[in-house]
Amino acid sequence: MSTAARRAQWRDLVERRLPDAARPDWPVRLDHCFARILLDHACGGPWRDHVRPPAHANLPLDQLETAIVLGEAVLAGQADLALLNRRSLAWRGKIATAPVPDALREGDLTLRRWRPDDGAPFAALNADPAVMAYFPRPRTEAESAVEAGLCDRRFVADGFGPWAVERDGRFVGFVGAFRIMQAMPFPGGARIGDTIELGWRLARDAWGHGLATRAARLTLADLAGRCGIRAVVAYTAQGNDRSRAVMERLGMVPAGTFPHPAVPDGPLRTHCLYRLEPAEVSA
Ligand SMILES: CC(C)(COP(=O)(O)OP(=O)(O)OC[C@H]1O[C@@H](n2cnc3c(N)ncnc32)[C@H](O)[C@@H]1OP(=O)(O)O)[C@@H](O)C(=O)NCCC(=O)NCCS
Repeated sequence: MSTAARRAQWRDLVERRLPDAARPDWPVRLDHCFARILLDHACGGPWRDHVRPPAHANLPLDQLETAIVLGEAVLAGQADLALLNRRSLAWRGKIATAPVPDALREGDLTLRRWRPDDGAPFAALNADPAVMAYFPRPRTEAESAVEAGLCDRRFVADGFGPWAVERDGRFVGFVGAFRIMQAMPFPGGARIGDTIELGWRLARDAWGHGLATRAARLTLADLAGRCGIRAVVAYTAQGNDRSRAVMERLGMVPAGTFPHPAVPDGPLRTHCLYRLEPAEVSA
């Protein structure tokens, strides 16, 4: 399909199909509200901070695709529009959100919100082929900057997210929780936004000290205590034994494999899924 045709489909989705389908329990019914919610999610924050209006003409095609997929999921009842609306309004400062602690601490380990000076060490670890061995490719400096921004804005949207991890005052990567905002092909993963994932990525010289596991335990305690979230998943490319070992140390239970929809066909596509259900939280 041509770019112009896809952009026309987007307009039809937000200007006609979603308003026509609006149900009494939906929080919005006007075209510009649907556009706001879907575009904010495609950009991971208020869309005008990322793209010049009009979005239907200027949004890069991959982000437009994300917005269309999300809109189709709303129409199909596979995404909670009230949740999406709350996340969008939180990014815009239009609703009050519960305060998020500045940091969680345990001994030499600090989990904190992201800071601008994390940019350089984060770009360095994302450019390291050893760290990125189980990702399709290392990230560029620009991609890392975007990713850091997206990580921190998750705290605004959800009240939790991937924390910047410091050991002895030095940024070493992230560990934390992500609300999964795409449909995943594993049981319970079809409804967008329902599943919470644990994730971690540390600089090579921070491996082998137990930091990821300790930080994940702090994250789990915070998620349970402050957010009431006890059931989480984690997944990684099949050969990533170090990451799987973290999941196992946390007491997570293997739950099969699935093809990761965001990973191109190839040896990294098959992912192992692990689950932590409330009764399994390890001490
Ligand atoms: C996945 C990753 C975070 C795991 O890091 P890690 O340091 O191996 O994991 P842990 O924090 O659980 O540390 C365990 C290691 O620390 C050692 N260790 C040292 N002191 C320890 C302590 N006090 N407590 C626990 N473990 C300790 C363990 O023996 C183990 O080392 P070993 O595997 O060499 O035996 C790291 O490899 C990484 O960032 N990889 C790249 C990014 C990535 O693939 N992320 C996952 C994508 S889904």
